[in-house]
Amino acid sequence: MTTPIILDCDPGHDDVFAIWLAAGDPAIELRAITTVGGNGRLEHTTLNARIACTVAGIEGVPIAAGAAGPLAGELHPADWIHGDNALGGPVLPEPTVPLDERDAITFMRDVIEASAEPITIVATGPLTNVAVLLRDHAELAPRIARIVWMGGSTTRGNVTPYAEFNAWTDPEAIKIALDSGVDFTMVGLNISHQALITREVRDRLSAIGTPLSAFGVELLEFFCSTYERAERMPDGPLHDPITVALLADPAVATTVRTRIDVELDGTETRGATSTDLIDILGREHNATVALDLDVDRFWGLIERSLRALG
Ligand code: RIB
Ligand code: CA
Repeated sequence: MTTPIILDCDPGHDDVFAIWLAAGDPAIELRAITTVGGNGRLEHTTLNARIACTVAGIEGVPIAAGAAGPLAGELHPADWIHGDNALGGPVLPEPTVPLDERDAITFMRDVIEASAEPITIVATGPLTNVAVLLRDHAELAPRIARIVWMGGSTTRGNVTPYAEFNAWTDPEAIKIALDSGVDFTMVGLNISHQALITREVRDRLSAIGTPLSAFGVELLEFFCSTYERAERMPDGPLHDPITVALLADPAVATTVRTRIDVELDGTETRGATSTDLIDILGREHNATVALDLDVDRFWGLIERSLRALG
């Protein structure tokens, strides 16, 4: 029994590992990849998605480009973490994987309409594409099994004290997703900061001994170096693949039903994902949130996917 997914992403170092896990894990059927402006400008995140598939030999998964920026305001790429091309570190090869000529929204609609069963949307960047799909094609909501999103936080932020980068980039998109009624799961910084890329993890992945694992570890070395400089975290957190891991092996993390509201107007708090874990406000639960990660189980899934891709 596999879970069919569309992966909407902004590669980005950790997005690349989410692509590899989605393609390499037997429990996931990666139907399509869509890209969004986030970690980098759209031309970079789209090129990087094609490169991620090229280096891993992932063929036959169509890729389409989506929104260049958020629903409101300007895009501020996270170049302080991911570099100017959004995939700093290794020398990047020319991609051999083509780009679909459709825009991501048309493409997502076509994939969902063509599917015999509901599709899960995994989003690991700003939710702009997902929000536009839900806003402009609301009739598709019943055919979306769930949205699993890396973003937000039940605690503090990473781009402002209260806002996580994906949420901060497009908070209006979060509100559209939460209000859509589609089953919504948030994988926030509160859990992603448990997926630390320690030296032991890097050595474990290096020991796989393939060109792909070597390329992946080069990405991780760069990502850890910028995290140390920007956030004083020498072992950077590998945020995005936790979304895919949760689908592939639900026992990899604990989750609870809760209430999430997103701040749109706060001078200091815009983009905060206010998560009412103890029901202080007594509002109707509208989301699932991931809390505790089985760290070794998670890295086992990452390692297995890299070995599977060869
Ligand atoms: O805050 C972490 C998130 O922002 C991750 O998805 C990372 O790739 C960036 O997009
Ligand atoms: Ca991302």
